[in-house]
Amino acid sequence: MAWRWKTLTLIFILLEGVLSRHWSAWMPPSISAFKETCVAIQCNFNYPEDIWPSAVHGIWYFNSPYPRNFPPVVLNSKTNSAHEIYLGRTKMIGDLQASNCSIQIEKVSSELQGKYYFRADLGGYNQYTYSEHANLYILDEPFVVQPQEIVSGNEAEITCLVDDNCPDMKPTVTWMDIEGLEHHNVYARLEENNGAWKQISTLRFLPSYKNHGQRLGCKVTFPETELEFKGFATMDVRYAPRIVDINSSTETTEGTQVVFLCVVDSNPMARVMWLKDDNLIKEDYTGNLTLELEDITYNHDGIYVCAAENEYGTVNKSIGLAVMYPPWKPSVNASLVAVEGETVTIFCNTQGNPNPIMTMVKDKQVLNSVIFQNELVLEIPSVTHEHDGEYWCLAENQYGHSNSSFNLTVVFSPLVLPESKCTVTKDSVQCMCTVKSNPDPYIMFEIPEKNFTVSELNAEYVHSQRSGYMVSSILTLQKENKLPEVVLCSASNLYGKKVHELFFQDTNTLIWAKIGPVGAVVVFVILVAVGGYMIKTREKKNITESSSFIQTETSPSYSGDASKKNLGKIENQFLSISERILLSKRKQKPTVDSEYANIDFTKKSVMDIYTSPEELTEYAEIRVK
Ligand SMILES: *[C@@H]1O[C@H](CO)[C@@H](O)[C@H](O)[C@H]1NC(C)=O
Ligand SMILES: *[C@@H]1O[C@H](CO)[C@@H](O)[C@H](O)[C@H]1NC(C)=O
Ligand SMILES: *[C@@H]1O[C@H](CO)[C@@H](O)[C@H](O)[C@H]1NC(C)=O
Ligand SMILES: *[C@@H]1O[C@H](CO)[C@@H](O)[C@H](O)[C@H]1NC(C)=O
Ligand SMILES: *[C@@H]1O[C@H](CO)[C@@H](O)[C@H](O)[C@H]1NC(C)=O
Ligand SMILES: *[C@@H]1O[C@H](CO)[C@@H](O)[C@H](O)[C@H]1NC(C)=O
Ligand SMILES: *[C@@H]1O[C@H](CO)[C@@H](O)[C@H](O)[C@H]1NC(C)=O
Ligand SMILES: *[C@@H]1O[C@H](CO)[C@@H](O)[C@H](O)[C@H]1NC(C)=O
Repeated sequence: MAWRWKTLTLIFILLEGVLSRHWSAWMPPSISAFKETCVAIQCNFNYPEDIWPSAVHGIWYFNSPYPRNFPPVVLNSKTNSAHEIYLGRTKMIGDLQASNCSIQIEKVSSELQGKYYFRADLGGYNQYTYSEHANLYILDEPFVVQPQEIVSGNEAEITCLVDDNCPDMKPTVTWMDIEGLEHHNVYARLEENNGAWKQISTLRFLPSYKNHGQRLGCKVTFPETELEFKGFATMDVRYAPRIVDINSSTETTEGTQVVFLCVVDSNPMARVMWLKDDNLIKEDYTGNLTLELEDITYNHDGIYVCAAENEYGTVNKSIGLAVMYPPWKPSVNASLVAVEGETVTIFCNTQGNPNPIMTMVKDKQVLNSVIFQNELVLEIPSVTHEHDGEYWCLAENQYGHSNSSFNLTVVFSPLVLPESKCTVTKDSVQCMCTVKSNPDPYIMFEIPEKNFTVSELNAEYVHSQRSGYMVSSILTLQKENKLPEVVLCSASNLYGKKVHELFFQDTNTLIWAKIGPVGAVVVFVILVAVGGYMIKTREKKNITESSSFIQTETSPSYSGDASKKNLGKIENQFLSISERILLSKRKQKPTVDSEYANIDFTKKSVMDIYTSPEELTEYAEIRVK
């Protein structure tokens, strides 16, 4: 402590040396002391050189420099008297003879707060009250000083100013409630300001948002006393926004409502925003922000960002909203027409969440499928008329399914089916030309040797029946002595022309072919034996036999393909059909069994006996169409 008095002395001596002496004094203009402690007011005074006092006395007044106002006397050195509130509390600690007017006041209390004036009494009229005075403040708490701004993450200093002007009682400074502060350190130093001394305790730390609103305490105690003074500071920590709470990513379905809440903490209040795809949807400056999404559609699917900003920083967090929905109606190629042989690529696109399972179906057969994709491609390298038909593109996920259909029309040049032939009956010749074609063919019959050409335009000779892409044209001619040698059937459309020679059916030849040379001998014997009977029977039958070609629209339950492959089977099937026809006839229920009723039974009977496998095939094929 000694050094500070020395500093003051030095200043005084310097002043004394430079300036000629006159009435002047020096004391701390302002000095503070904690209640119940003491205060020593350092004081020096000066008087003109020409005064040579025999004894130097001094009086300290409280609050007024003028004796005529009778201010309370703090201490009169001459009489050693004082006002009652100062009695026994004050003592001169300076040597007045040495111009040292320092005074110490014990057990200060708030009523002693005020101005202290010194009056030099050098004897006679040489009395002078110096205008320089000390302002005494009585404290009951230390000063805690915060910086203007505490910013999270930037080192901050909070100081506690503790006046230390009592030589007998030295304060001890401690900080309270600083345990949670990061990287905190305390530094202490003494500072003199115009003769008043302060202990300065500096608390250095790294503030964070957690310290916002935290109250710190500075405690001053005086050893060996019960005295304790506390000062507090509540910190206002500035910090960038923090997203304290936000919904996690969510899954929903269309038509629902979704509410997202973004809870933001910041100081000062932040601008809070909800964004989607960098587009601002909503913003506010009140901290928390809810986002209400009504009537969810697939458009709401995506990433939502909650962003917050203030002058100290920005923050953002993203959440996903997955909107689940059934696949849309697939978009497929419009119905299309392809020429046989072309490569056809069919695209089917849809959209669904999750991505659907897509299948391409034709005639209940799956042609292609993809799993969890939005596009299905079906490539048919070389279309044939078999690819013609209605296609379905089906899309399905757990939220639903949808479909689209389209028609693939395959156009092709006419195809004359091998079963086309001429049949001779008792009094007519019937030539049937069966053509498969798309678009419709133009069918002509030609008998070159007779220079005879007819088409269905000649209704007298030709009539046709159509079923799908099958056309059967039948030429009926009166039987003449000589059968025509060659009958040609020609079919043409935009895509081509076919000419086919129609053969005459020779049942005998066919039977020989069927049973082979060994069997032929046997059959010949049998034929000779039964020949007469047969001829008679046939003649009878022919009267009832219909000569027209019969075609049924509806299909029986067997297919032409199978009949080609397995004759025995076909015959069985055929027999079974015959039986059913018979049955249906017996039942006499034409409405119920109309599909069989319109089959010409007499024709069936003929076929029953004479039909070759080829004929069966022909019959089956036509019926299938
Ligand atoms: C005045 O007296 C006080 C108390 O004795 C002492 O501490 C101080 O140093 C003196 N001042 C000067 C200028 O000598
Ligand atoms: C989001 O959080 C808020 C508050 O916790 C809640 O009310 C709301 O239902 C949540 N939204 C979703 C989609 O979970
Ligand atoms: C934000 O929400 C949190 C929790 O839901 C709440 O504690 C806080 O007071 C809210 N803040 C504002 C500014 O509304
Ligand atoms: C979110 O923050 C990141 C960095 O933290 C930044 O790159 C991005 O641009 C921010 N997004 C938005 C929408 O503010
Ligand atoms: C089907 O449509 C796609 C585009 O939608 C097209 O690229 C493709 O050629 C079309 N296919 C046919 C056979 O027209
Ligand atoms: C196509 O969708 C319709 C309507 O949903 C449905 O009735 C039909 O059965 C679907 N067709 C197929 C082949 O799935
Ligand atoms: C495909 O053809 C069928 C009949 O053949 C028809 O009912 C259907 O509407 C057609 N579809 C399209 C998509 O044209
Ligand atoms: C066939 O008729 C055409 C004209 O209709 C004629 O030019 C041609 O000579 C005839 N041929 C025969 C063999 O009669």
